[in-house]
Amino acid sequence: MGEAWKAHYDVLRVGPFVIKPSWRTARLEPGDVLIELDPGMAFGTGTHPTTRMCLQALVEWLRPGDQVLDLGTGSGILAIAAARRGAGRVWALDIDPVAVQVARENVERNGVADRVEVLQGSLEEARALGERFDGIVANIVAPVIGRFCEQGIADLLRPGGWIVVSGFFQGEQEGTVRQALEAAGLTVARRWAEESWVALGARREMAAGYAP
Ligand SMILES: C[S@@+](CC[C@H](N)C(=O)[O-])C[C@H]1O[C@@H](n2cnc3c(N)ncnc32)[C@H](O)[C@@H]1O
Repeated sequence: MGEAWKAHYDVLRVGPFVIKPSWRTARLEPGDVLIELDPGMAFGTGTHPTTRMCLQALVEWLRPGDQVLDLGTGSGILAIAAARRGAGRVWALDIDPVAVQVARENVERNGVADRVEVLQGSLEEARALGERFDGIVANIVAPVIGRFCEQGIADLLRPGGWIVVSGFFQGEQEGTVRQALEAAGLTVARRWAEESWVALGARREMAAGYAP
């Protein structure tokens, strides 16, 4: 195969993130956060609206030191972005073994392997880690997010923690996901929308009298 396909991949900017394939050069400005990603067989190059909205959500909601769970990591782009923005530790899970391999390579390439652990699995494997997370990001599809809500994803969040979900359209799908989040005891606090795709941000409320 020739190299003509490389012409389709250029440097992308999403907020402070500069996402570039290894064969390109990028001029960085102060405050820019570089993510080097070679497109493999995994989803998540930064071109999709849902990925871009999740990156934007991380800029708004991630606090330095947060422990973050990235469910459905694909290329690892959101996990790497979280680590680069100061997350304390990140666990990146995907059911697809190819995504796991691609994400591990990208994590290494970006020098964040000391803080990002890539594992094959889903909600059950995340629960088995025995951690409580400050933030969860899950860019998958509406039925899977609905299942995660029914299966207790909210319990994996510390009180006051946040969750950002995307991968669904405005309208019926958005309504279903919103209901599932609320039925799980989460408070939907933010909505991002791009080209009819939606991301929702919700919080697990601090229980009265809870002292972190
Ligand atoms: C739309 S991609 C998102 C990739 C990346 N996080 C992003 O935002 O660009 C969804 C990923 O979720 C994975 N996935 C699908 N169902 C899953 C499940 N039940 N548990 C964990 N990962 C899942 C897929 O293999 C795919 O890599």
